[in-house]
Amino acid sequence: MNNVLVKITGLDHLGRGIGRVEGKIIFVKNAYINEEVTVKITKEKKKFLEGEIVDFEYKSPFRIDSKCNILNCGCALKHVPYEKQLEFKEEKIKNIIKRYTNLEKVVKKIIPSDDIYNYRNKVTLKVKEKLAYSENDSHNLICIDRCELLDEKINKIIKEINKMDLNNVSEVMIRSFDETMVCFKGNIDIKELNGVSSIYIDDKLVLGQEKIKANLGNFNFLVSDKAFFQVNTKMAFKLYKKVEDIITKDKTKTLLDLYCGTGTIGIFLSKHFKKVIGIEISEKAVMDAKENTKNNNIENCKFYVGNLDNGLKEKADIIVVDPPRKGLSQKTIKDILDVEPEEIIYVSCDPMTLARDINLFKDGYTVEEIIPLDLFPHTYHVESITKLKRKN
Ligand SMILES: C[S@@+](CC[C@H](N)C(=O)[O-])C[C@H]1O[C@@H](n2cnc3c(N)ncnc32)[C@H](O)[C@@H]1O
Repeated sequence: MNNVLVKITGLDHLGRGIGRVEGKIIFVKNAYINEEVTVKITKEKKKFLEGEIVDFEYKSPFRIDSKCNILNCGCALKHVPYEKQLEFKEEKIKNIIKRYTNLEKVVKKIIPSDDIYNYRNKVTLKVKEKLAYSENDSHNLICIDRCELLDEKINKIIKEINKMDLNNVSEVMIRSFDETMVCFKGNIDIKELNGVSSIYIDDKLVLGQEKIKANLGNFNFLVSDKAFFQVNTKMAFKLYKKVEDIITKDKTKTLLDLYCGTGTIGIFLSKHFKKVIGIEISEKAVMDAKENTKNNNIENCKFYVGNLDNGLKEKADIIVVDPPRKGLSQKTIKDILDVEPEEIIYVSCDPMTLARDINLFKDGYTVEEIIPLDLFPHTYHVESITKLKRKN
């Protein structure tokens, strides 16, 4: 198909411009609402087309020049001003919730990110001579020296690593809080790296300490190489504070922290409950959670390894869930319903699976509020906290 002129009428949930060509819907990356763009078709399917901008007939006055020139990375909204990114995310979550339920009115105003650049504490890069991102929708690797989303400590380390011989390295993960960890996959001769307190090669610690420390308010968290930790440290603190604000606190009650990772949410909330039990599939994360309870002088939290897809044996008055993007399995939802907690707090990083899941709780639970938070500026992702209350 020849290049086509497209009028962009909206954005889809991935932040792509939407238009029509001969009655067929077309998705155009990096396009903004009301723009008229000449588009090269990159994919032709029965029901839709995809394309890339070749030229602008009309550019939106809202469009901003991005700080970086990398194309097709995770920053689908980098040409969109931050206030408009927030509007997009709030609308996105409302639209998705509306599609599955009729609850869009309980969606609150989005909480913006404190920082919109240099907020990421972690990156995993591939190697193509130098460190590289994997381009979206392809196997292409794009070499980088820096990324505007990453903590500058990580950018410095990327520059250092790019000077090394990476011929036998396939992947590098860098994570940085108050301390910094670098994990290589492959073979590399390395004795030290400036500013790095922990180096792993193929899952073996070769330099420094096993875990690195992150401070969130009054709490310290040690985090292992394989454990999950929120990528936006300042906003992780805001997220947990918000959960603390809205949860019903009662020192006679037991709280279950499901998908607990390194124990962050349970430890944050421990002073408001008699007992906290955390369950998590990653052994390393549970070891961190146990150490984190000790280091923060907390005595009422217990964490253990468990695959929640295989069942939930614990009882509790209140349950917090913070699952990965795929959300809760039907079995986990049934198990939670069997426990009959008086309140469920659902922390979600994917509004699609959140909407699907809260729909399955609707007979027994009322959704009181959904609070979106922006933990991932310039990307289309949106985090949220939902409070569900038992009906009787
Ligand atoms: C979004 S993270 C949340 C972690 C933690 N609440 C936090 O804020 O850091 C999801 C966690 O669920 C864990 N997980 C994934 N599938 C699981 C399963 N089937 N059973 C238990 N935990 C699981 C992951 O290892 C990860 O630590």
